[in-house]
Amino acid sequence: MAAEALFELSILGGALERRWRRQRPDIERLPWDTLDPAAYPPGTVLRARRFWTVAAFQEYRTAAACAATVEALIAARAPIDLVAECSRFLLDETAHVELCARVAAALGGGAALRHDPDALFLRPSLDLSPLVRAAELVVRVFCVGETFSVPMQRATARAATHPLLRAVIARIAKDEAAHGAFGWTFLDWAGADLDDAARAGLSRAAASAIAALEASLEGSAGSDEGPTLGWLPRDQYLTLARTVMEEQVRAPLRARGLLDGTSYGLRPLFP
Ligand SMILES: [Fe+2]
Ligand SMILES: [Fe+2]
Repeated sequence: MAAEALFELSILGGALERRWRRQRPDIERLPWDTLDPAAYPPGTVLRARRFWTVAAFQEYRTAAACAATVEALIAARAPIDLVAECSRFLLDETAHVELCARVAAALGGGAALRHDPDALFLRPSLDLSPLVRAAELVVRVFCVGETFSVPMQRATARAATHPLLRAVIARIAKDEAAHGAFGWTFLDWAGADLDDAARAGLSRAAASAIAALEASLEGSAGSDEGPTLGWLPRDQYLTLARTVMEEQVRAPLRARGLLDGTSYGLRPLFP
């Protein structure tokens, strides 16, 4: 395990930054100077700085998992357009990292967050074939994580009242729609080549990714105290999360025979 590192971000500037800005021109046009932290109670601002730092870190973890998925897809000789689609997501997630970090900066600065750079996501065993490695990453990251986050972010964008926060969340949600669809497109392509052993492994991967996500929900649900600055009120978040997980994650996995109901010793949060 690598030494824990502070989660810090930087921009090199100059020609590289200008090229990056040209790739995502809409980010600069967001109303960055409209968020005034002095307009909110100090406790809410502190919570918001923490919330948006963690959001940037989650996007960072997804960027790392996207990069690993691209590598596995290339090793599996996946169709070129499938590889290209997933490669595009790496830039999207990098943009989401920057969006969330800039909101934290506008609120007064990011919160201190330490992390293990070697444990950004769960790596599939190298004993598995490239196709099964790709499938395991796709099931965890896209069929569970990204599929779950699409309706959650759409609802959060609708509920946000501040123009910058609404614009940032809506901008992220716009990209996430394609990310959410990707997992199912991959499975439609790879399905016939996944044997019973691979499917059993993918069922375990799906069940453990769902359990990990559910275990994190209580912690990631915002508080009901004071105004919300980019999160849903707690009860609304948890109720929506339960519905989304059942109808949009579990049901399509079950329909593909990839969630067989075995608990694998994991305790579901929403039995
Ligand atoms: Fe993202
Ligand atoms: Fe995404």
